[in-house]
Amino acid sequence: MNKPPRNDYFKDQICFVTGANSGIGFALSEELLKRGATVYLAGRDLKKVSDAAGRLPAFEDRVHPLQVDVTSRMQVRKAIEQTAAEEGRLDLLFNNAGILQMALFETTTPEEWNLIVDTNLWSVIYGTHAAVPIMLRQGSGHIVNTSSVGGIIPYPMQALYNTTKFAVTGFTESLRFEYAEKGLHFSTVCPGPVATPIYGKRLGKPDPLMKVPGDAIPPGTAAPFILDRVAERMGIIIVPEGFHDQLWRGYVHGDERTEEMLAAHAHNRRVALERGDPAAAAAAPMHR
Ligand SMILES: NC(=O)c1ccc[n+]([C@@H]2O[C@H](COP(=O)([O-])OP(=O)(O)OC[C@H]3O[C@@H](n4cnc5c(N)ncnc54)[C@H](OP(=O)(O)O)[C@@H]3O)[C@@H](O)[C@H]2O)c1
Repeated sequence: MNKPPRNDYFKDQICFVTGANSGIGFALSEELLKRGATVYLAGRDLKKVSDAAGRLPAFEDRVHPLQVDVTSRMQVRKAIEQTAAEEGRLDLLFNNAGILQMALFETTTPEEWNLIVDTNLWSVIYGTHAAVPIMLRQGSGHIVNTSSVGGIIPYPMQALYNTTKFAVTGFTESLRFEYAEKGLHFSTVCPGPVATPIYGKRLGKPDPLMKVPGDAIPPGTAAPFILDRVAERMGIIIVPEGFHDQLWRGYVHGDERTEEMLAAHAHNRRVALERGDPAAAAAAPMHR
């Protein structure tokens, strides 16, 4: 596959970003605008997403806030089709919206499973399903789905989250090959810890106990790194670069030490969660 020059990959491109009012989605939107794109910022709360657009006054002409709840197939489809109709095309779709959950599996409920699967996985399928026919007609397009390092490494005590994110990785990687000869590109973004409001929430609801990990990088650092790799049409993009690389490779190859590390992590997380301390669980060491 030919790699395009990095600098003008986003210039004059029509981009649609979900979960754009906050965190990584906002940072990606701002960076896309800096690189010359037109950006449709989608958020579930119109006031929040309009306020976010208002924080980008330098790009007023190229910023379009939209209200879209990504758990609604109809809303996602309508917003993507209207964007393409308005602009005459859709070049890049960033399925970024998501929520986090860390919990002991036995305490999770079917309602929690439904909410996280709807928000983190069905949203990505809805967006992709709406965009692919448009991009096939154009003969070009790039879909960037946000997974997580939890979508390639099975960090214990976040089975809900990992289930959705492993699915996003598998879905996106499958489509990368399925559509390569049609001129469509797919990337999977796998962030490690990034300091965003996702940590102040549990399943999208405020939770002061969920603290930002100490090693988290700012979203403004993650976004340019991600877009540089999107411009290279990289498949799996891990940010920060190399985060838990040895752990990932050790896990894939069934390395004994990695198995021990993940088992120790599970033990330490269980101890912290049983005493009601998700922040300590998030930061739990990988040794006993
Ligand atoms: N931060 C990290 O360390 C990290 C690590 C790995 C992966 N990720 C992934 O990165 C993506 C972005 O997360 P973030 O860290 O930037 O968190 P964030 O700041 O909380 O952003 C998440 C965005 O998704 C939106 N959202 C949630 N449910 C939605 C719904 N039903 N409809 C529309 N929008 C919805 C949120 O809207 P509201 O503001 O209205 O809640 C928010 O705009 C997520 O997919 C997350 O899983 C993050």
